[in-house]
Amino acid sequence: MLANKRILLIIGGGIAAFKVPDLIRRLQDRGASVTPVLTRAGEEFVTPLTVSALAGQKVYRDLFDLTEESEMGHIQLSRSADLIVVAPATADMMAKMANGLANDLASTLLLATDTPVLIAPAMNVRMWDHPATRRNLAQLVADGVGVIGPNEGGMACGEFGPGRMSEPLEIVAAIEAKLADGPLKGRRVLVTSGPTHEPIDPVRYIANRSSGAQGTALAAALRDLGAHVVFVTGPASVPPPSGVEVVRVETAREMSEAVDAALPCDAAVFAAAVADWRVASASDRKLKKTRDGMPNLEFAENPDILARVSQMTGGRPPLVVGFAAETDDVIAHATAKRARKGCDWIVANDVSPATGIMGGSENAVVLISDEGAEEWPRMGKAEVATRLAARIAAAVAS
Ligand code: C5P
Repeated sequence: MLANKRILLIIGGGIAAFKVPDLIRRLQDRGASVTPVLTRAGEEFVTPLTVSALAGQKVYRDLFDLTEESEMGHIQLSRSADLIVVAPATADMMAKMANGLANDLASTLLLATDTPVLIAPAMNVRMWDHPATRRNLAQLVADGVGVIGPNEGGMACGEFGPGRMSEPLEIVAAIEAKLADGPLKGRRVLVTSGPTHEPIDPVRYIANRSSGAQGTALAAALRDLGAHVVFVTGPASVPPPSGVEVVRVETAREMSEAVDAALPCDAAVFAAAVADWRVASASDRKLKKTRDGMPNLEFAENPDILARVSQMTGGRPPLVVGFAAETDDVIAHATAKRARKGCDWIVANDVSPATGIMGGSENAVVLISDEGAEEWPRMGKAEVATRLAARIAAAVAS
């Protein structure tokens, strides 16, 4: 299952590190090679000699020397792996990862790569339950980090509850799942996301309330199915997911150009809230109250990216998906929009303020296609993304 897979194994400082030699053996039994990295705290629980003897490789330690740097480079170390596994992942390690700290070898390796990461947390039950760890865990999941465990049970410290590191065979199964080829492997999928900013002058702009949350979740879900995702994003308030190709733009016209540059692709999903109009002639110097008086803004229409791509005669992506944010008569308006734009599917949602959907964490959508309108129950944006990504995978594969 893991033949020729290269795993960079970061061993954190916890009593669960005693299970790591067994984990290394089981990974090797399945054909993987394991490059071990031992944190300074990890060395308190398992010796460098044990780890390197088992792995059949040099163990990289937090106190790396400069010779090593010039030979390999810590950045290269993490980039050449197929997967980075952190086991045990301590509360401290999770906090560093969630906040992007890079103050030792392990955390630097984790920050300097877009290789997929899987963590096997292990800690005292109260540390696991602490709001800080909850926050860090949520951030790591949002960043695309895979998590296995922890299990519930008696702990070395005498307490009982969740916090025990998963057993080596459970970790191996999670590694296999993370490395499995998804249905979108080898496929290129374009996702637009976030708002656009349309300048009035160098310091002022017109924008909208889109957070980019749904587009970001969708890009992550498509990535998890193995797609190469080109993520064209306006200035969103949530960060882009890891493991995707990020193209940052500001205006609708820049987004349009970035979309063209990303084609051809197997599927294109337009989740961005693109401004319909821009200021016709934005000033290249700051408008002054005293000098320029009250601005009299004239508007020009922005390119409709979704309509343009949907109606391409050559190079149209085989599947084009649009979004429709409506405040009334959702299905009727979205059905008309699908026909007008010429896209294959429209994902419609009701964004009237009472729904709390715009900028919120939940969504209630209707998927409109040739088959008619399919209403999905209200669910988290991540779940909408997972479901939609699965539908896209099924359509692209057929
Ligand atoms: O035109 P309207 O904003 O109602 O349609 C929404 C859909 O069209 C979304 O998928 C959005 O990303 C896309 N769109 C676009 N370019 C525009 C306006 C909207 O791609 N200029």
